[in-house]
Amino acid sequence: MSQRTNEVRESFLLAIASVATVDELEKLRVEYIGKKGLVTDLMKAMKDIPNEEKKSFGQAVNALKTEVEGLITEKREELKKKEIELENAAMPEFDVSTPADLKRGSYHPITLVQRQCEDIFRSMGFAVEDYSEIVTDYECFEALNIPKDHPARDMQDTYYLENGQLLKSHTSAAQNAIYKKYKDALINEGKPIKAIFPGRCFRNEATDACHENTFFQMEGVMVDKDISISNLIFFMKTMLSEVFRKDIKVRLRPGFFPFVEPGFELDISCLICGGEGCPSCKHSGWLELCPCGMIHPEVLKAGGIDPEEYTGFAFGLGLTRLAMMKYGVKDIRDLNSGSLKVLDQFTDDN
Ligand code: PHE
Repeated sequence: MSQRTNEVRESFLLAIASVATVDELEKLRVEYIGKKGLVTDLMKAMKDIPNEEKKSFGQAVNALKTEVEGLITEKREELKKKEIELENAAMPEFDVSTPADLKRGSYHPITLVQRQCEDIFRSMGFAVEDYSEIVTDYECFEALNIPKDHPARDMQDTYYLENGQLLKSHTSAAQNAIYKKYKDALINEGKPIKAIFPGRCFRNEATDACHENTFFQMEGVMVDKDISISNLIFFMKTMLSEVFRKDIKVRLRPGFFPFVEPGFELDISCLICGGEGCPSCKHSGWLELCPCGMIHPEVLKAGGIDPEEYTGFAFGLGLTRLAMMKYGVKDIRDLNSGSLKVLDQFTDDN
């Protein structure tokens, strides 16, 4: 009977040597050690073996079973490895050590200018705040001394949402929340409120070289005891001179905004035409860059601050316009175009 064991072993060794796939190997496994397999049959035959041969036969069959199982496991690993090698060979060659021949991305010019302004204001002790793009009518208008049906609402052709909220038409929409956030530290600890909050704004504008329906502003406020227009002028001049890396020409004109009193338009001389007049400055030589003024007492009150005790200034810097000035972009539409030809010319250091 151990003769039979040897035969089964020989035939198995022959068969496994020519197995080429995992499927074939599975068939072979069933053929030998499956329920009705050849090795299994040998085990079943134990009961017919004469007693004196039982021991050596049993040992031989068990050894065969162990050997068959071991060889099948070994073969399965080997076949899997081969399959992976074949798959890899079919893939295009990819050398991770090859330097990528890709152009590096660049920041959008508005991001660059925004970050620069943030750095400058941070260095002057201002907190940088973020605010949502969808705001309430209260935040955008009422808290800013612009009641419903006030004609000042016509200055900003606003996108209203069906739920009564709106896309913020100016960053001033965050003022109320900022006052409420910092008023306790102002009142109880005497810490002045100094914050800037850049953001994307939306207005239903007809687009041309200097108007877009989506643009960026950066609002700034400072509230404390005895804040005056000279504080406002100081911070604006310092910031603009830093951004343009030279002393820049500014002018203040009276301007009307219901949330400041007095209100101003801060203009800078057009850096594209040097003041000669061009489409970007509507041929005036000046660019309206930053409306500003002293925060209206009603606005402070709405923010929980007593206007008898505290005063402050606010400004709404046109970040998009500032980026155009700084980088000499003649058409505002280039900034939103997504055109890499335009956008990848800007770097951190220019
Ligand atoms: N929010 C005003 C606008 O976008 C600008 C502004 C801000 C004016 C702060 C005065 C003070 O038109």
